[in-house]
Amino acid sequence: MAAAFHPGLTAAASARVSSWWTHVEMGPPDPILGVTEAFKRDTNSKKMNLGVGAYQDDNGKPYVLPNVRKAEVQIAGKNLDKEYLPIWGLAEFCKASAELALDKKNEVLKSGQFVTVQTISGTGALRVGASFLQRFFKFSRDVFLPKPSWGNHTPIFRDAGMQLQGYRYYDPKTCGFDFSGALEDISKIPEQNVLILHTCAHNPMGVDLRPKQKKEMAGDGDKDSWTMQHFTEQSINVCLCQSYAKNMGLYGEHVGAFTMVCKDAKEAKRVESQLKILTRSLYSNPRLNGAWIAATILTSPDLRKQWLQEVKGMADHISMRTQLVSNLKKEGLSHNWQHITDWIGMFCFAGLKPEQVERLTKEFSVYMTKDGQISMAGVTSDNILFSTMVHNAW
Ligand SMILES: Cc1ncc(COP(=O)(O)O)c(C=O)c1O
Repeated sequence: MAAAFHPGLTAAASARVSSWWTHVEMGPPDPILGVTEAFKRDTNSKKMNLGVGAYQDDNGKPYVLPNVRKAEVQIAGKNLDKEYLPIWGLAEFCKASAELALDKKNEVLKSGQFVTVQTISGTGALRVGASFLQRFFKFSRDVFLPKPSWGNHTPIFRDAGMQLQGYRYYDPKTCGFDFSGALEDISKIPEQNVLILHTCAHNPMGVDLRPKQKKEMAGDGDKDSWTMQHFTEQSINVCLCQSYAKNMGLYGEHVGAFTMVCKDAKEAKRVESQLKILTRSLYSNPRLNGAWIAATILTSPDLRKQWLQEVKGMADHISMRTQLVSNLKKEGLSHNWQHITDWIGMFCFAGLKPEQVERLTKEFSVYMTKDGQISMAGVTSDNILFSTMVHNAW
């Protein structure tokens, strides 16, 4: 690192004559967050942001879960300090996260053959996992992603030094899940390779494998945690990334966890020691506040019960899907929209072509990613008339 400024020159002049960064090209906007930036610049009062991955109330306003507010009051009453957390995070949070994902009764948890570290949201969990693979996965550099996958998966694994490969997931003919294509592609992946699976509410499609299909895929529920339980029972080497952004609305609090299931408790301890070395150089130690909120909710029976009800409320709200499809039909669009109602979660693929998305944005100020992904959180009872605009852009 050199001195930022030459003694004989003003800072501005020194920057002009001796820049080291003239070769740096302007990068493209982020394909997901860039949509929100463009939305904010638009002055049309009827504008709509269907690219946003955050739950909103029916007035399109950010929503803080009431159980989160209650947890905050409880935490404030404890007068906690602001010291650093340990490198691996808040112990209560890590334990509760593993139990949430794998179920308390899971043998893996009982025998201690796992390690969970707190991370900077789901993205941080992925990056820690990717860096661990880069350093310790000795069999291959390849990581197989569903096609398509969440847009940030590719840069996260690529920047960590892994190589991206894919397996079929989306079937453009049905706008649904290409199960036979996925199985065929996965069956060709050699043993000892890394497969990325969205365990519930696939992003961007909202298309999940049914338990029967997961069983078939894993070689042999109805709960989100079923996949993890089933895969650990099958002795699959599971690495799990969790985020509390959407399910607790803790977006900017950045609460996440990374869990690795190991052969035994001794191996888990060795893996933990290396995860600590890795995260120490990435961000030293994770954030305090959000971890306390999530831990308080997960470990207090009353708050946990309330949280589960509130998650259900959010899930029902983003089920504007039925209303959206009925409006599209009313508009006389005879296209088969069943995929919109069939699948779950915050996102769905509308099946729109890039030029239709471009028209919707340019002419009607409706913002979404170019692949036609809709965040159902951005569809409110007010703007559900979005269907009229789709009609016009069709
Ligand atoms: C599949 C998937 N992975 C990771 C993330 C990132 O999670 P976070 O926002 O907690 O960083 C998201 C967020 O939308 C996601 O959908």
